[in-house]
Amino acid sequence: MENKFLKISYRLAKIPDECSLSDKTLLIAAEHATQSSHSPYSKFRVGAALLLEDDSIIEGSNQENASFPVGFCAERTALSAKVAIAPNKKIKTIAIRVKSALKVVNQPAAPCGICRQVLLEAEEAQNQNIKVVMQGESGPILIFESIKDLVPFYFGADDF
Ligand code: THU
Repeated sequence: MENKFLKISYRLAKIPDECSLSDKTLLIAAEHATQSSHSPYSKFRVGAALLLEDDSIIEGSNQENASFPVGFCAERTALSAKVAIAPNKKIKTIAIRVKSALKVVNQPAAPCGICRQVLLEAEEAQNQNIKVVMQGESGPILIFESIKDLVPFYFGADDF
């Protein structure tokens, strides 16, 4: 038996100015998206912003429900909006920001497993990488060039 190792490459920017203008702009849009979060239960606002191939931006935020498992994550809310508004446009980048009423979040919050799977399949379907840029309220920014970097050994449409 062999020991195998996985390498995942990503970039860390200490401040937004280390990022490209388009990533910085998208991080601001994702922060803006946190304002429409409906999160009275977790008090945790998540904002996602998608940069499309025509440089338009679509925002989404987490929408919670009194029946807790019914809530929508920000990433999938943004993706659903994109499918409704611009079904044929490719996504270049998704930025994700978070903000909590309970503490200062100075670390990025990575997308949950379900959102990763959905984003991964969106990436596969459009046949073009989706870059992921994430940041807390403040603090470091993590940049992944593909959703696949966040989902090793993924299950995709070609697997069945
Ligand atoms: N949440 C997201 O919006 N995206 C994720 O990928 C992780 C979690 C939301 C769901 C819930 O409204 C709140 O964050 C706390 O879990």
